[in-house]
Amino acid sequence: MANPIMLFLFCLCYFTRSVEVSDENKLFPHLQYIENSHTLPVPEVCTELLNNFAQSASNFTLCSIKNAWPVTLCKECIDQYVMFKSKYDELLKTVENGTSCKTIYISHDRLDAVLEYYNGILNVWEKGNCNACYDWSGPVPVLSNDTKHFDKMFKETMNCIATNSTTTNMSDEVCERCMQSYLQLDLFYRSLSKDSIGLDSVCFDIVDSMNTTRSIWSKDLNCCKLRKTPEVIFLVCTGIISFLPILFYVAVRFCSPIRALPNILKESRFKQSFLRSSSGRIN
Ligand SMILES: *[C@@H]1O[C@H](CO)[C@@H](O)[C@H](O)[C@H]1NC(C)=O
Ligand SMILES: *[C@@H]1O[C@H](CO)[C@@H](O)[C@H](O)[C@H]1NC(C)=O
Ligand SMILES: *[C@@H]1O[C@H](CO)[C@@H](O)[C@H](O)[C@H]1NC(C)=O
Ligand SMILES: *[C@@H]1O[C@H](CO)[C@@H](O)[C@H](O)[C@H]1NC(C)=O
Ligand SMILES: *[C@@H]1O[C@H](CO)[C@@H](O)[C@H](O)[C@H]1NC(C)=O
Ligand SMILES: *[C@@H]1O[C@H](CO)[C@@H](O)[C@H](O)[C@H]1NC(C)=O
Repeated sequence: MANPIMLFLFCLCYFTRSVEVSDENKLFPHLQYIENSHTLPVPEVCTELLNNFAQSASNFTLCSIKNAWPVTLCKECIDQYVMFKSKYDELLKTVENGTSCKTIYISHDRLDAVLEYYNGILNVWEKGNCNACYDWSGPVPVLSNDTKHFDKMFKETMNCIATNSTTTNMSDEVCERCMQSYLQLDLFYRSLSKDSIGLDSVCFDIVDSMNTTRSIWSKDLNCCKLRKTPEVIFLVCTGIISFLPILFYVAVRFCSPIRALPNILKESRFKQSFLRSSSGRIN
């Protein structure tokens, strides 16, 4: 038995439901937008650039961690760094269909992961003054002359210490033989920067090499005690020399008059007695 009221209700329900379904997008357009905005409006070029940037950041990170100690990351990771910078610049510059890739990925939300990673990597590079290792005047960065010169001297000093350490047990001997190259290296290093630690402007690969050399020189070989010997001799000599005038005056004041006086007295007494006796004989 078809109940007309039931039929009416069914039709009503069906009708409202079909309206609901067909007009879903119009009623809630923002829902549709949010659901698809992560894939649809992003130009393919930007996605590709983001992938490249991620790859280059990953390449640099890998290289810099592998070369963290002893610090060689400035010298070893320059290719990765240059690639990383250029991928980031490309990401910033590219505009596709009026949509800039920069606005999609950078400063779009509070986490800002892309910018955070970029700054993190840049921070490592700049904290190490890595740019100072290079000559940037050409199209591609090359190791600067100072860096090459330092590396050469550093290798010489290390070789000297290594070869001489195996042939002789005495660290004094090693110190003596390698003193010349060590002092030259130290002098050159000091000329590179204003403060003697070199943290202000010297490329960290160089700072670390020098730190290691100084540590081997003064702690392991204990070469600094050799330097004390000439100092001690110098101080002793200076002491003796500056004491000489005092000694002279003391000697003049106390010795010569005492010695001279009795001579004069003796002489005059002798003369007197001589004169007396001779005059007595005459008399
Ligand atoms: C990352 O490193 C790999 C392996 O060295 C290399 O094939 C790739 O081209 C590098 N990618 C970028 C973006 O630097
Ligand atoms: C956006 O670029 C694609 C190809 O990259 C093109 O098919 C489309 O017409 C462009 N849209 C606009 C609005 O320029
Ligand atoms: C570095 O050395 C090369 C060759 O020894 C020379 O041609 C170049 O001018 C030097 N660069 C600087 C900045 O002194
Ligand atoms: C010590 O080092 C100097 C400088 O490197 C080298 O000329 C010399 O042959 C070395 N002496 C020995 C015994 O290895
Ligand atoms: C070198 O030192 C070791 C122990 O440190 C000693 O046994 C050896 O005799 C020494 N050799 C020379 C040539 O002094
Ligand atoms: C030099 O090395 C010592 C340890 O050997 C370390 O404590 C110090 O921080 C280093 N200095 C620099 C400038 O890296």
